[in-house]
Amino acid sequence: HGKALALLDNRYKDKLTSLPKEKGWFTENLHLYQDFWHESARVVSAVTVMASQDNFQAQPTDIYIATLQKSGTTWVKALSFAIINRTIYKTNSLSTHPLQILNPHRCVPFVEIEALHRLPTYVDGHSPRLFSTHMPYTSLPKSVLDNGCRIVYICRNPKDVLVSLFYYANRLRDKSIGQLTFEEAFEMFTKGVIPLGPYWDHVKGYYMAALERPKEILFLTYEDMQKDTVNNVKRLAEFLGYPFSKEEEDEGEVDKIVKLCSFETLKDVNKHGVVNKGFPNDVFFRKGKIGDWTNHLTDEMSQCLDEITKIKFDGLDISF
Ligand code: A3P
Repeated sequence: HGKALALLDNRYKDKLTSLPKEKGWFTENLHLYQDFWHESARVVSAVTVMASQDNFQAQPTDIYIATLQKSGTTWVKALSFAIINRTIYKTNSLSTHPLQILNPHRCVPFVEIEALHRLPTYVDGHSPRLFSTHMPYTSLPKSVLDNGCRIVYICRNPKDVLVSLFYYANRLRDKSIGQLTFEEAFEMFTKGVIPLGPYWDHVKGYYMAALERPKEILFLTYEDMQKDTVNNVKRLAEFLGYPFSKEEEDEGEVDKIVKLCSFETLKDVNKHGVVNKGFPNDVFFRKGKIGDWTNHLTDEMSQCLDEITKIKFDGLDISF
């Protein structure tokens, strides 16, 4: 991706230099583009969002998994891929299933990365095309909304997102900018200064859109998925247009998919190797639990985030 990124950087250089800046989580800077913060020089960045908006063409049968990072992207990618392809890749021959060999991020491409490719991932009228994106709702390429494409959004308790992002960023940060302390990470998070942030605006954008367009947008939470995986996987399958039949349910197909995509299974498959340069496979699998924030936030920090969340999500029915 390096060369393609460098070309894009040149093309959008002028646009980038005029944007407000803050200290980055992965690279030196974040840029404020269309009211959200984006890393300056990674594959999911202000530049690749601009390129997606200019070049990406959605098709009506496309399906998009939209998330703010660390909210359950990898999990929903694996589940959606396994659900949609279950007649091609049989869950009863598990050892040859792509998810037993490849990282979920290799099975479901990011729109932002697709914009870098000269050759498309999907060819010959492949349908449905399954993509993921971190873009805020208001920044999605116009054709995604105009074509009425289906979008699955998953959100997660902001405190667990903060903890997850803190570890993730420290593993992937440019060496030249040193490590983040948890206090610094907390400060930046509360100010909304995280990649794809403010957190609350990203979530609210999709939440409101899902209320307006329930047939096209499914709003899930990481916590619901954890507490009742089976029923949420069934809901997901229905929304994707691949509901489980009675026979499949009787044969335990739902449970097989849940197991194939479980944290334990995927963590084991992804112990070694890389998704692409700079992204080790194992970086996407840390603890996979609800509530690790209790091991990291002081009472004061926790109260502070509760207060912000209460104000920002006032009137919304989101519980973690
Ligand atoms: P933790 O850092 O709290 O462990 P994303 O995929 O959006 O980047 O989110 C990563 C978070 O989801 C990490 O959280 C990771 O461990 C967790 N995760 C990854 N795969 C999972 C799975 N199959 N089931 C549940 N959680 C998973």
